[in-house]
Amino acid sequence: MPTFDFITGPATEREADLLIVPVYEGPEAGPGVKDVERALGVSILDTLKDNGLTGKKHEFFSVPAYDKLPVTTVLVVGLGPRREVDSDRVRRAAGHAARWTSRYASVVTTLPQAASGKADDNVHAFVEGLLLGSYRFTHYKSSSNGDDAARLERVTIAGGARWDAKTARKAIERGQVYAEAAMWARDLVNTPAGDATPDFLAKAAAKMAGEVGLECKVWTKADLTKGGFGGVLGVGQGSMNDPRFIELRYSGGGKNERPVAITGKGITFDSGGLSIKDAAGMEWMKSDMGGAAAALAAMRAIAILKPRVNVIAGIPSAENLPSGSALRPGDVITHRGGKTSEVLNTDAEGRLVLADALAFLAEQDPVLIVDAATLTGACMVALGEDLWGVMGNDRRLIREILDAGEEVGEPGWELPLWREYKRHIESPIADVKNVGQRYGGAIHAALFLAEFVGDTPWAHMDVAGTAFQQKAGDYWGKGGTGNPARTFIRFVENRAAKARPRKKAAAK
Ligand code: BES
Ligand code: ZN
Ligand code: MN
Repeated sequence: MPTFDFITGPATEREADLLIVPVYEGPEAGPGVKDVERALGVSILDTLKDNGLTGKKHEFFSVPAYDKLPVTTVLVVGLGPRREVDSDRVRRAAGHAARWTSRYASVVTTLPQAASGKADDNVHAFVEGLLLGSYRFTHYKSSSNGDDAARLERVTIAGGARWDAKTARKAIERGQVYAEAAMWARDLVNTPAGDATPDFLAKAAAKMAGEVGLECKVWTKADLTKGGFGGVLGVGQGSMNDPRFIELRYSGGGKNERPVAITGKGITFDSGGLSIKDAAGMEWMKSDMGGAAAALAAMRAIAILKPRVNVIAGIPSAENLPSGSALRPGDVITHRGGKTSEVLNTDAEGRLVLADALAFLAEQDPVLIVDAATLTGACMVALGEDLWGVMGNDRRLIREILDAGEEVGEPGWELPLWREYKRHIESPIADVKNVGQRYGGAIHAALFLAEFVGDTPWAHMDVAGTAFQQKAGDYWGKGGTGNPARTFIRFVENRAAKARPRKKAAAK
């Protein structure tokens, strides 16, 4: 992990291996470009044009500094049209730049200055983009093959002349905490299900809790039986790897203040159970605990950032496998709190484990509940792989989640919790059944969950498309993305700020 520092003043006076400066589409000079041109005695913009480049986003061009600057190489980064450049464009550009920075030990850059908006948001986004773009999952490689080994040790951010250094340093720290949380979530998602069992997840959570100072209680199978967690037990009963329930508490608010409650789907492998998936459908199902990973990662970040709010997490984890002891289509299970569900498709298992978790959390008298779950292929059909869907019983809460996601570059979109479709999940023999009809599957899943939250304001993020990616993107590779951990963190921070507004530090 590189260290970051902050300076005001020209980036061109800083000693480093690589200097990164941005250009806008045109090409048009971004911050620092004029200084580079003066020092090198060449026109960077003309050089770009001579090479057929115009400063479009994702354009990269490197220029040797020939001892005319205290750096070896200058990397020019295209950002696209100036009016489009916001903190998320910086995050994505930094993610791409990470492919270059891994070859150098030290980097200095003006990139965060290129965006409109608040300086601290841009610095935060840059740090996230660079760290997340540098992420590699090498745990299962027998040897690192050199080219991937990151050399980067020091990153210097050059801010504008009037930037407040204290604010910028704070933004760097926060960016690091967010990025580390997301990277931990990625590690958990990327770890194969043969190793990442419910017990593994629980042990990882307990270890994390010890390190950052959270209260942690792990419910074993016997505890779950005593507690009436029929959904978690039912889904897990086909596997040799027993289910768990992970309870984490963070106390940053008043002693009697009602907590914010979060949860996430923690299916460590989803074969579909007896309603078994085909081979292609199962290929990536180690990622079916992406919601749980994001919730755990968010708790870690929250413990470090210490927002003034109480937070409780209750995370169900089970492995969905077919066997002689597995749940059968047609079985009826009794969830925490007493509601029953008829399991007509054992592949609709996420809602079964979440039902218990939501019922448990609702008992804790929280101000609200938010869950994240890789719940339905239908949500991916609706929104693709860039956006999660959000549904719930409280439009203001949904708005807050959408805002938090947008602020951290993890956007979502609202889908309707259309109550009329409750007719699709009525069961002739139980309180509710676990599948609806083919069309509107994401809504049926959410309506099922809604049965278990009572009157508590609640929002559900369906992250089936975003928690895991089959193609590399701007700052993620193939595999776990860490989405929506940063949305969770920002949401909780925003909540704390709203409850107790603090004097805003002047930025920019
Ligand atoms: N974990 C899957 C959803 C999923 C699919 C996530 C693809 C990521 C990528 C979930 O448990 C599931 O199997 N859902 C079924 C529900 C259906 C049986 C009602 C689905 O979406 O097909
Ligand atoms: Zn699943
Ligand atoms: Mn499933």
